[in-house]
Amino acid sequence: MSTQNPMTPAETAENQEHTAPRKKRALSCIQPSGIPTLGNYLGAMRNWVGMQDEFDCAFAVADLHAITVRQEPAKFRRQINEMFALLLAIGLDPEKSLLFVQSHVPAHAELAWLLACHTQFGELSRMTQFKDKAAKHADNINLGLFAYPALMAADILLYQPDYVPVGADQKQHCELTRDIAIRFNNLYGNVFTIPEPYIMKNGARIRSLQEPTRKMSKSDENANAYISLKDDPDTILRKFKRAVTDSDACVRYAEGKDGVNNLMEIYSAVTGRTLPEIEREFEGKGYGDFKAAVAEAVIEELRPIQQRFDEYMKDKAQLEALMKQGAERAYAVARRTLSKAMKKMGFVLV
Ligand code: TRP
Repeated sequence: MSTQNPMTPAETAENQEHTAPRKKRALSCIQPSGIPTLGNYLGAMRNWVGMQDEFDCAFAVADLHAITVRQEPAKFRRQINEMFALLLAIGLDPEKSLLFVQSHVPAHAELAWLLACHTQFGELSRMTQFKDKAAKHADNINLGLFAYPALMAADILLYQPDYVPVGADQKQHCELTRDIAIRFNNLYGNVFTIPEPYIMKNGARIRSLQEPTRKMSKSDENANAYISLKDDPDTILRKFKRAVTDSDACVRYAEGKDGVNNLMEIYSAVTGRTLPEIEREFEGKGYGDFKAAVAEAVIEELRPIQQRFDEYMKDKAQLEALMKQGAERAYAVARRTLSKAMKKMGFVLV
């Protein structure tokens, strides 16, 4: 009975919070390294759109990360604009989510320094991405490339997210972020939420159309191996027609049929049909019909995105206004975390 067990106002508030818990927060960033592929879209970006209702989301264009390898200024500028326009075009909603460009919020670079001073040389040396990129760009193994995970930790921790949706390749960086956050909290008191990597459940793993055992990648020398989100309908059709299959001439999902399996997975991701449904749909039909259907489905999936993308790219004033608004809103959140971290460390804030 409530009269026998009265709740204090604080308990009441807490109780109400339990009935209407705050939304969990999620944050992710993407580098402006060119137009993504269909694989990037179906594997990761498309899932961000769906996360917007379930989580309080923040998404950023990680331009500061991109300069760890050399960028050509005019191209770099275009790619930042394009990536921001693309995030809008796929359906990320600036009224629902924080949407911004990393370099517009200086708190990222500032917190990165504080965190760099809490990150060990040995830890950074173990990062597989660093080792890969250092091997690939042996003439430019710069401090930024080495410190990359500290900047990424800053991106994340500033917004106190519960989850960080990333691909498997970024899991190691997320784990280091956790270690840095725990270390910082242990030294100075609770400042950072300890985030968890959020490996996408329904992220399709799309592979090359030419070498279907490998991941679809925009850095592939053979442009027929990937679908770019900017490819026009004719190009998409042509690339699917040339996709590698097998001599079995039967649309079914089975071991050893990597090419067909990949096309089926693309078709499934785009149409929502299951693999058995797809097998039934193409029973008695050849690969020609199947490839044309996959191409058609992809063309229709990308059409509205490409339209919106073109509109944003034509209206630079609007794009800039949305960037500015995003930067202000992001900064309001980031500033609070940065101040708290600095205060706890003993900095004199004025
Ligand atoms: N390092 C990520 C990548 O290359 C991009 C990134 C930068 C990121 N900051 C982030 C991802 C913060 C998640 C959270 O894909």
